[in-house]
Amino acid sequence: MVSLNAPAGPYFPQSSPSRAGQRRDAAAAAFGKVCPQQSDPGRSGQNPDAPPSVFGGPFPEASFTLRGDREEARRAAEAIDAVLSREQPRINVELRRHTADLPEHARAPAEHLLLSGGKRLRPLLTLLTGRAFGCRDAGLHTLGAAVEMLHAATLLHDDILDNAPLRRGRSSAHVLFGTVQAVLAGDAMLAKALLLVSSFGDPRLTACVSEAVMHTAEGEIAEFARLRDTSLSHEDYVRIITGKTAWMLRASCELGALRAGAGEEAARAAALFGLESGIAFQIVDDVLDYYPCEETGKPKGGDLREGKCTPPLLLYLASLPAEKADRLRADFEGGRLDEATVEALCGEIYAGGFAEQAREPAGVHLAGAAQALASFPPSPERDLLDNIRHYILTRTA
Ligand code: FPP
Ligand code: MG
Repeated sequence: MVSLNAPAGPYFPQSSPSRAGQRRDAAAAAFGKVCPQQSDPGRSGQNPDAPPSVFGGPFPEASFTLRGDREEARRAAEAIDAVLSREQPRINVELRRHTADLPEHARAPAEHLLLSGGKRLRPLLTLLTGRAFGCRDAGLHTLGAAVEMLHAATLLHDDILDNAPLRRGRSSAHVLFGTVQAVLAGDAMLAKALLLVSSFGDPRLTACVSEAVMHTAEGEIAEFARLRDTSLSHEDYVRIITGKTAWMLRASCELGALRAGAGEEAARAAALFGLESGIAFQIVDDVLDYYPCEETGKPKGGDLREGKCTPPLLLYLASLPAEKADRLRADFEGGRLDEATVEALCGEIYAGGFAEQAREPAGVHLAGAAQALASFPPSPERDLLDNIRHYILTRTA
């Protein structure tokens, strides 16, 4: 079993100094971590000439309050963009081909989601990991397309469960096509992806992807079991996101290594790289849910509306005077937060530095990913995987 290097302990409610800075200190103490540093003024201005980046540039100041170098982040994003612009067309051709094979009524929701953008992070991980271990065959694109299709299937279902009206800035598939069609499209995509992987005739590939699907479902079930539960500990939170998000990134990497014929130890390192990166990815995703829309280009406050208890909220609660915290807990747990309150809470959590502070454990998991990566043979692909690690920590969209 993989060790998760997460900070231990629940988000204890603390005594209640009145100023935001003091509150943040109290929350940080509860979290067992230092507070985010003030940003380096020397790194403030954004470069207006920065090229548009699929992977998230330009980089607003807020992402650098914790750690990181803006130039390094830009270089990482540019390197990933470059490889993605080479590989994306081929990944998309595969996705189109396999989507066209779906049963008629599944095709439209599947195309709607798959062709609405998305960074193709998972296929990229499969390609880079496979190549890092010496694989050069086209099977990597098929395996990458299969994990992207699996991921899309989970999103079709997730948007129904979360009652989310939007995905990637467009109406969700269930809004456009109805719940029945969206559920069935998700089912068909799941089946198609598993068929694609099993067509390789390699039981290790099939086991890898099946296990990931199982853990993804378990993670989502665990999340729903703890919805609106503010007693969630950091370990519980990490367990949930490991399942619902990190296992699919783990599989993305492990599939590549297995296809390359990597030995057991190397495949384990690839899996660990993916898993730790995946945990960090979701931690940052949950941080960005509190960022202003102008920075992320996405609506904020979804987790508050959906009753998802994530670190920014838990850190904020831990910083509040007991009475105020109890009131907020009761309203959140009772599903009584109106739109104005959600808006105000997002503002307070962001401005108070709690969202940024919640990014910090992502660094711990990415350090775990770096350790795993260090055992890969040196190659340009290994360097690109390291850039992905950097991107995951500093992304703002
Ligand atoms: C997104 O989380 C959700 C997931 C990554 C996993 C969803 C998993 C399932 C619905 C169960 C398994 C389904 C299949 C077909 C195997 P989020 O809601 O925090 O992210 P979001 O803000 O992007 O919606
Ligand atoms: Mg969701």
